[in-house]
Amino acid sequence: MKIEFLNQPVTSIQTDLLVLGHYSENTKPQGKLADVDQALDGAISDLIQQGEITGKAKETTLIHTFGKISAKRILVIGLGEKDAFDQDMVREIAAVAVKTAIKVKAKKVASCPFGIKHPNIHEHHVTHSFAEGAHLAHYRFDGYSSKKEEQHQVELIQLIAEEVSDELKYGIECGTAYALGTNLARDLVNTPGNKMTPTHMAEKAIEIARRYGMEYEILERDEMERLGMGGLLAVAQGSEQPPKMIVLKYRGREQWDDVLGFVGKGLTFDTGGISLKPGANMDEMKMDMGGGAAVLGAMEAIGRLRPKVNVVAVIPSTENMPSGKAYKPGDVIKTMSGKTIEVLNTDAEGRLILSDGITYAKHLGASRIIDLATLTGAVLIALGDVTTAAMTNNEEFLADFMKSAKKAGEKVWQLPTFDEYKEQIKSQIADLKNTGGRLAGSITAALFVGAFAEETPWIHLDIAGTAWSNKETATTQKGGTGVMVRSLVQIAKHYGKYGMR
Ligand code: BES
Ligand code: MN
Ligand code: ZN
Repeated sequence: MKIEFLNQPVTSIQTDLLVLGHYSENTKPQGKLADVDQALDGAISDLIQQGEITGKAKETTLIHTFGKISAKRILVIGLGEKDAFDQDMVREIAAVAVKTAIKVKAKKVASCPFGIKHPNIHEHHVTHSFAEGAHLAHYRFDGYSSKKEEQHQVELIQLIAEEVSDELKYGIECGTAYALGTNLARDLVNTPGNKMTPTHMAEKAIEIARRYGMEYEILERDEMERLGMGGLLAVAQGSEQPPKMIVLKYRGREQWDDVLGFVGKGLTFDTGGISLKPGANMDEMKMDMGGGAAVLGAMEAIGRLRPKVNVVAVIPSTENMPSGKAYKPGDVIKTMSGKTIEVLNTDAEGRLILSDGITYAKHLGASRIIDLATLTGAVLIALGDVTTAAMTNNEEFLADFMKSAKKAGEKVWQLPTFDEYKEQIKSQIADLKNTGGRLAGSITAALFVGAFAEETPWIHLDIAGTAWSNKETATTQKGGTGVMVRSLVQIAKHYGKYGMR
């Protein structure tokens, strides 16, 4: 799908779908919608009078033009109140426009639903959010049906603008990068476990590295053994699939000094291992590499946008399977950090592979670390599928991240990490145990992971509730959501602009 600019009177634009907007306080069509209204002999004024077009946010009214203007159809989208209009609304509206275009099989869309200039929003943020919403809405997973239905493609979106600046164009580039990174993460999550193996995940990472000239490193089992990565190795023991420690390095600065570390859980299928999960909905556990997928999606966008920041991406990847070789409850293992762990439940495997992921990220020079993981069912009880949970050992770092997430339009909420909770993961016979009981399950899981970050500023994002969705919205499909890709890219861009100190 291409997005370009167009400067032409609105009534002469040849397109399948012309998308225009209407604020809820307006009693008459304004601007371009007024021009169209005139050409249609007041048809739109009539619909407003009759209360069919109210301007309520995201309301849609489809009007056929029967040759009265060059556009085949007009979509009037409600913009809500002008004062409340913001970047998030632009993203939603672009998404609604694209979903409608798909429904009516429009190939060419022209739009300027709110004017490129709006007092609340910087103009390059308008084009950013528009491009982002459009590409997010256009996403569909290809699937594997033998009788493939052709999926309708919107080929071109023309944004109507009188003047085109480099800033406006950069906005489109950014929005496109954020969305295509997110869509890449969605593809990885939606790919079933028999295809999305650790080996395949590593191949996908190498593709990104090659596309953008990044360095990469894939550690195999023997190298993990040499480095003492007992956490990842223990989880991988029961699987026929070889584990991989996937590393990408993006150099945005001369010196490899300030380095942002992204560590993503790449558990390509979680059966629970010997502590086997119940059968119902176990298929959804193909999404247990959602953290790793978000990291790869972010690296794709970072490769496109080239911010002036160093980033190291680390993805410990394996399956968690029961077998005669599998690790067992009661086992004690030693991680790369030297810390020992008593395994009480083999289904609490994410924190074990992340322990080595975080230690390795530090070893590679990460000076701030964000880890992302579909880590606990408990986070679904706490925050549902709406909000990602964040925990940290450094409030300033989290404040930067929260701002970035807000800008990116992703919902994040902090949970506490008070020392009292650490009691729950102390073991009698090792440094830590891998379960902390029923109470505060997301927090004790985070603190377990944080024990390996030690003094390095660290944020943990539990995306078990948000990486997967069972409903469709304007910007998402059912399945993998690609959550947190945009927030990661946003904070990388922030540090690229303002530095990390
Ligand atoms: N991958 C799961 C967490 C999960 C649950 C992700 C639901 C997505 C949706 C994780 O490995 C897990 O099994 N966690 C256990 C930990 C427990 C055994 C301490 C859990 O949350 O039940
Ligand atoms: Mn598990
Ligand atoms: Zn898991």
